[in-house]
Amino acid sequence: MRIAFLGDVVGRSGREAAGAAIPRLRSALGLDLLVINAENASHGFGLAPDMAQALFAAGADVITLGNHAWDRKDIFGYIAAEPRLIRPLNFPPGTPGAGFHVAEVPGGRRALVMNAMGRLFMDPLDCPFRATAQELSRYRLGGTVQAIVIDFHAEATSEKMSFAHSFDGQVSLVVGTHTHCPTADHQILPGGTAYQSDAGMCGDYDSVIGMDKQGAAGRFWRKLPGDKLSPADGIATVCGLYVETNDLTGLCCRIEPIRLGGRLSEVLPKP
Ligand SMILES: [Fe+2]
Ligand SMILES: [Fe+2]
Repeated sequence: MRIAFLGDVVGRSGREAAGAAIPRLRSALGLDLLVINAENASHGFGLAPDMAQALFAAGADVITLGNHAWDRKDIFGYIAAEPRLIRPLNFPPGTPGAGFHVAEVPGGRRALVMNAMGRLFMDPLDCPFRATAQELSRYRLGGTVQAIVIDFHAEATSEKMSFAHSFDGQVSLVVGTHTHCPTADHQILPGGTAYQSDAGMCGDYDSVIGMDKQGAAGRFWRKLPGDKLSPADGIATVCGLYVETNDLTGLCCRIEPIRLGGRLSEVLPKP
């Protein structure tokens, strides 16, 4: 299966760049599945229903979220009715939406996409390790689903690596999101699971993690309330990764970074 994962969409420039890149990547790489994190799509904070619809219309199969999932209140009703939009599965019981979705992939195949959130330097949620293990117990990789992709939304690299090693061999891909900077540690772990600590963002890199640099820096220089954050509006780099998996085992045989447009050096996998 040919899968692309794109990191956190930030603001209008991120939405525009991702919207243009998704169809281009789908055809250039012959993608079977495209997953994108959009927790910062709405002015850096949350995701509005019309923005989710635009990403689906561009060719996204599944959209994931994170700690900013609920910044836009109009997403509550939308996520309850749209199974392709998922939020971290370790939110407390009763939270709207679901933490996983099984996507139908061409050729009668199925891919399980999951979203979990770390707890180190983040809001305390239920244990993401145990919640993920419990959810995974319902599926068999290479049997009931041909691929399993997990967006692990977390701050700490140690937690991300611990999570990935815990599920090595049980899932196709563990990719980190939330820090908005692409890491260069993409690899196939010994058990066959692809891993990258952070996918990076779809956003303007002349910024502080996608937000206007003056406003963001001002919050470190002065500890006064009122320095409001807004997204940087320069041309965004679309960041993420590309993996190929074996349908019989569900394990990964190739992982390559994707960086397209904007300020970061461009990298596109060869088809
Ligand atoms: Fe984010
Ligand atoms: Fe986040």
